[in-house]
Amino acid sequence: MKHVLEPYDITRESEMLAPLDYNRRSRLKDTDRIYPAEIINVIRLTEMEKLFQVRIIDDTDRERFTFLPGQFVMLEVPGYGEVPISISSSLSHKGFIELCIRRVGLVTNVLHKTKRGSKVGIRGPFGTHFPMDKMRGNNILLIAGGLGLAPLRAPIFHVIENRSYYKDVYILYGAKETNLLLFNYQYEEWERIADINLRVIAEEGDANWTGEIGLITDLLDDIQVDPGSTSAIVCGPPVMFKFVCSRLTEMGIPMHRMFVSLERRMHCGMGKCCRCNIGSTYTCLDGPVFDYWSVLNLKEAI
Ligand SMILES: Cc1cc2nc3c(=O)[nH]c(=O)nc-3n(C[C@H](O)[C@H](O)[C@H](O)COP(=O)(O)OP(=O)(O)OC[C@H]3O[C@@H](n4cnc5c(N)ncnc54)[C@H](O)[C@@H]3O)c2cc1C
Ligand code: FES
Repeated sequence: MKHVLEPYDITRESEMLAPLDYNRRSRLKDTDRIYPAEIINVIRLTEMEKLFQVRIIDDTDRERFTFLPGQFVMLEVPGYGEVPISISSSLSHKGFIELCIRRVGLVTNVLHKTKRGSKVGIRGPFGTHFPMDKMRGNNILLIAGGLGLAPLRAPIFHVIENRSYYKDVYILYGAKETNLLLFNYQYEEWERIADINLRVIAEEGDANWTGEIGLITDLLDDIQVDPGSTSAIVCGPPVMFKFVCSRLTEMGIPMHRMFVSLERRMHCGMGKCCRCNIGSTYTCLDGPVFDYWSVLNLKEAI
């Protein structure tokens, strides 16, 4: 049965506003600091994306470096500049972080030419995170389109490593073409984990593709979850948020329990350069993770 909730549920106001409060919690203590780091491995994922394993060189700093799913770092390529990149690895890996990077412009093209042993810098971690603690006891829908699987990977690892905290877990992933699907070498491993339902869909399949064909929203048609105890994380291009979050709303999932990660051009990552503002909201400090209700209240956020 489809039912639509009123977008503003006054009884949940404090919960809805909470992200803006905790987002403001300052993490500025270490944000100016660049950790010298080294690329220890590069894995080619597709024509456009590579996975970089990056290790902070100083032992103490490496041991102390910690982050939460959804946060990002500023990755410096000496002589070329810095780019914001979501941390795509498990929190439990202490030795290195993984960054999945699409080559689109100056810095990312240089990065794609780097080899194991290249020196880079890391600032951060920055920004807000997916509230995994608040989702405990819920069903979880982890939904990604295209490169969105990069930021979604940290919450996926978190859920896998804390599987007993959550009820039914679905990973829904879609891409335009099958050769653009990221991390396909991990799907089998994710599926084998008890009770994690993985569905992968492509808009266009090639001759070898035996999976589903269609749009990511098609995958939601036959998902049966109790909307009263379901949370969703949605990562991907902004146009996807609208369609996926509208469909989730039709399923009865409240907007304050849908979380998205917004991307804006960023320079400092710490609320100083005014590059990432949406009105008075700084995507680097107040985001990049927002609940969908907050996103709809940010003018022209998507
Ligand atoms: C919080 C956050 C997390 C991110 N995580 C990832 C990630 O995990 N993997 C990844 O590959 N990329 C990620 N990005 C995007 C990445 O930062 C940009 O692709 C990168 O900065 C481009 O730098 P460049 O020098 O290669 O390209 P440039 O030469 O600066 O630009 C090339 C083209 O990309 C566009 N562009 C650059 N930055 C952005 C942006 N932030 N949003 C939209 N368009 C942009 C430019 O307008 C231009 O058309 C993230 C961005 C943010 C804000
Ligand atoms: S990136 Fe500089 S203010 Fe957000």
